[in-house]
Amino acid sequence: MTRATWGSRIGFILAAAGSAVGLGAIWKFPYVSAKNGGGAFLIIFLIMSFTLGICIMIAEMLMGQISRKSPVGAYRFFGGKPFSLAGYMGVLCGFIILSFYSVVGGWTLFYLGRSFQSGLLTSDVRVLKTIFETFVENPYLPILCHALFMGITAAIIVCGIQKGIERISKTLMALLFLVLLILLGRSLTLEGAIDGVLHFIVPDFSKLSAEMFLDAMGLAFFSLSLGMGCMMTYGSYVNRDTNVATSAVCVTGLTIGISFLVGLMILPAVYVFGLNPAEGPGLTFIVMPAVFSYLLGGTYFAILFFFLLFVAALTSSISLMEVSVSFFIDEFATPRKLTTVILAIVMFTIGIFASLSLGVLKEFTFFGKTLFGLMDYCTSNIMMPLGALMTSVVVGWRSRKMFQDYLSDGVRYPKWFSYISIFCRFVAPFLILIILFQNL
Ligand code: PHE
Repeated sequence: MTRATWGSRIGFILAAAGSAVGLGAIWKFPYVSAKNGGGAFLIIFLIMSFTLGICIMIAEMLMGQISRKSPVGAYRFFGGKPFSLAGYMGVLCGFIILSFYSVVGGWTLFYLGRSFQSGLLTSDVRVLKTIFETFVENPYLPILCHALFMGITAAIIVCGIQKGIERISKTLMALLFLVLLILLGRSLTLEGAIDGVLHFIVPDFSKLSAEMFLDAMGLAFFSLSLGMGCMMTYGSYVNRDTNVATSAVCVTGLTIGISFLVGLMILPAVYVFGLNPAEGPGLTFIVMPAVFSYLLGGTYFAILFFFLLFVAALTSSISLMEVSVSFFIDEFATPRKLTTVILAIVMFTIGIFASLSLGVLKEFTFFGKTLFGLMDYCTSNIMMPLGALMTSVVVGWRSRKMFQDYLSDGVRYPKWFSYISIFCRFVAPFLILIILFQNL
């Protein structure tokens, strides 16, 4: 069977950016940067993203493009059987992430529906906290929303690469950008917004710490969808003549640009209204309705915002599901539709327990974490850094020659690959090992 490909280069870039821009950019980025003191963290995050992030992204995309396989096949192609274990870990990682990501995706659907009704927009943060907690702890409603979100994701995946993922990503990313600009305009014209902007941008170097570097690096991996074979899978649908290095630079630039705009949209508003930016996951679901309650036409802004959140989560969740689906198609030649339906049901079932672990199963903890927290921790802090480490070992050490041959025009290979391979040989493994050990 010939492998599906993207219809255009821009389609590929937007799909990859759609994967990257997600809940990570919209709730994690603003509160983690606020927690770490704003500006200084922002600079470190930018440096991490544009060095380690871009390098691993190019490496992953190249592995996909050359092997034309999803992660397991790609690792096997370059490193032989033992390395395919890294691919299996990636598939498993995407599987676990989607199981709980879809639960949060369901929350965005609930809040989207809720913003059409009265009662959500109030300046009383305690009331909003109660709304959030009552919803999350309800044993049925979040699961219903989770099912709906997983169903929408699966429906897109069933339609394939060009007709499903590419078409939806192109439309939704354009929409996301438009909604973001409208909300940004409103947020920045609030009285006093400039102080919030300054707090976000001006660095406070007294807050520099080792932990801040780790936070910045971890966030860069999660936000750029790296370390679990997602960019490898998307890279496997890229034509041979497409330059993945410039594409990766575009994807990173677009993702970081959007994250920055999101921060610029949320943080000034949060400061203007004197709310707590370090609210964590609640920042979005608890604080934003409070922000909207102060605005003329707040209901419309709330609808736009939760729609934005839903769209961002959806374009990421399809990329997560595609990793598992393409693995089964590649390895066992299963039909796309059946594979998608079965995988969606299994992930939905695991997600049920993740969702319940915030409510009725709260008492069951592992290492002091709920199942939801554990799934998040293990994937972001252990599996993704390990995956990125394996990618850099393959590109920098194990199969460097294969990449050089592929990229070479018979005489020499492009200069950028020398930088990438040096980075993958020395810098990336060193930095990643530091994160891993600090996290453990
Ligand atoms: N990058 C996505 C986000 O920020 C999450 C994600 C991680 C998606 C890994 C795909 C792979 O929400």
